[in-house]
Amino acid sequence: MRIVRTKDYEEMSRKAAAIISAQVVIKPDCVLGLATGGTPVGIYKNLVNWYKGGDLDFSEVTSVNLDEYRGLPREHKESYWSFMHRNLFDHVNIKPEHINLPDGMNMDADAECARYDKVIESVGGIDLQLLGIGHDGHIGFNEPSNAFDLGTHCVKLTDETIDANQRFFNNRDEVPREAYTMGTRTIMQARKVLMVVSGKDKAEIIKKAFFGPVTPEVPASILQMHPDFTLVADEDALSLL
Ligand code: F6R
Repeated sequence: MRIVRTKDYEEMSRKAAAIISAQVVIKPDCVLGLATGGTPVGIYKNLVNWYKGGDLDFSEVTSVNLDEYRGLPREHKESYWSFMHRNLFDHVNIKPEHINLPDGMNMDADAECARYDKVIESVGGIDLQLLGIGHDGHIGFNEPSNAFDLGTHCVKLTDETIDANQRFFNNRDEVPREAYTMGTRTIMQARKVLMVVSGKDKAEIIKKAFFGPVTPEVPASILQMHPDFTLVADEDALSLL
């Protein structure tokens, strides 16, 4: 595990974008596992700027996103499909047929999860997986539990996650209750994993996840076992170490 300490959110975003950009330069037809949430927004801004400046080319890149709300049409402004288009895909030259997310409107959970695992397998697995971390240690929507989930699966969101995501909706009732998420095994099989974290409110969970025991009660803790895991975090997020 490698820790890159940055002064603030802006530097975290630039450094993490530089790692993703190096991946794309070294392997133009790479598979990027992408994340939503507040933290990666600054990364995507940098990637868009570097693309516009002619330094990055996404024409051969394939993307697979971590997760998607179940039951939310992709046109909904808070779907992860919309988020990714608004923040990245609409502004770079990635091919629409190279973009993959779970289909939140396929209500047959078993079929959708099996389909998504096949997609990830058929593109040859993930070269670089970008992650954020929830306050309870979740990665993707892999919430604390008594076992690590394996492949893509359907989850019921915890009250804490619903509360945290409420800021994106008009009110709590509008927040979807379920989601499809890549499982821990898929994340662990990515050849590189890059996590970005910012802010004092994440300091406690960073300490627990990466300096405590590996346990499904703190899903991110499993990344301690990943052979190529980089944590890019600002001083506030690392303040308890
Ligand atoms: C996003 C995702 C989540 C977030 C996590 C942190 O696709 O799967 O695990 O990475 O909830 O979110 P932020 O960055 O908003 O603190």
